[in-house]
Amino acid sequence: MTEAVDTVHVDLGARAYDVRIGRGLLGRAGAEISPLLKRKRVTVVTDETVGALHLSALREGLGDIAMTSLALPAGEGTKGWPEFSRTVEWLLAEKVERRDVVVALGGGVIGDLVGFAAAVLRRGVRFVQVPTSLLAQVDSSVGGKTGINSVHGKNLVGAFHQPSLVLADIDVLGTLPKRDFLAGYGEVVKYGLLGDAAFFEWLEKHGYALAGGDLAARQQAVQHSVMMKARIVERDETEEGERALLNLGHTFCHALESATGYSSRLLHGEGVAIGCALAFEVSQRLGLCSQEAPSRVRAHLKAMGMKCDLSDIPGDLPDADALIGLMGQDKKVVDGRLRFILARSIGEAFVADNVDTGVVRAVLTESLMNRR
Ligand code: GLY
Repeated sequence: MTEAVDTVHVDLGARAYDVRIGRGLLGRAGAEISPLLKRKRVTVVTDETVGALHLSALREGLGDIAMTSLALPAGEGTKGWPEFSRTVEWLLAEKVERRDVVVALGGGVIGDLVGFAAAVLRRGVRFVQVPTSLLAQVDSSVGGKTGINSVHGKNLVGAFHQPSLVLADIDVLGTLPKRDFLAGYGEVVKYGLLGDAAFFEWLEKHGYALAGGDLAARQQAVQHSVMMKARIVERDETEEGERALLNLGHTFCHALESATGYSSRLLHGEGVAIGCALAFEVSQRLGLCSQEAPSRVRAHLKAMGMKCDLSDIPGDLPDADALIGLMGQDKKVVDGRLRFILARSIGEAFVADNVDTGVVRAVLTESLMNRR
């Protein structure tokens, strides 16, 4: 039986592409990718964990398309210069030409690194994203942000390079550990919070079923999230304005990730969820949104069994001033002023440049005190 596949078209003129969302896409990767190929071969870069789970299904799905693959170590530590240069050199050794297609099979780390490798290889080759985590399906595989981390911070080296196709296979989400799935769900909630109150309400009703494995609900949530992201990216591909809304919760998240050493103490999506809760708290303290809004955000995250407070992060954290200091390396710093994404209500976020850092300090301090 052929399952229904949703298509979200990302309309970027010469760089336009489709995001295909549905079940069984790995199994028919050959038919999906073939129209892009000038010769019947692809190079696939994955990580060891994802490769063990899904590489053979992809190989089978590619049919008569020849495939070679490289599996990098799993984890955020891979997203730096050593594995990046190893990947570029491997692609060159595989004699990937300008007209060839590179495939990124994995989560956000693989998608970002391989996309950047494709951006610089022979001054740019096309690539296909096959995202295998919920976070990658709803966010990082779409929109063309690619890159690696530097000792100076996350994602500080990179390029905008749009994929030629994204294949989001809903079935592969079934192999994610619950914690990883819920971390990705933090990015799904973000879309409701930043621009679609009705979607947030839908998540309040269906989130539990979705996390429990309801495939139709998963497909609908991924499709809606991707559609929202596509519309924003179409209007602001290189983040001159509106695209910054996608960073709701991220200024807090990046500081918390840095404070926890990018370790398993805090996954990126968990930091986003906590960051969204804190952003709503700051918004309420500034009189921008009702008192009910942050409570509702927190209530949903709690009901889903997600982290929503600093007290949910195991181990010690630095004080509020140190956390604010860690926000200083964030790419959203403009002329030395901290920029936050705040909200007027659920579904109505905006970019705020002149935030009183005293309020941010108070919210963080209070949240840290709750730990004792
Ligand atoms: N993840 C935020 C963006 O793609 O703009």
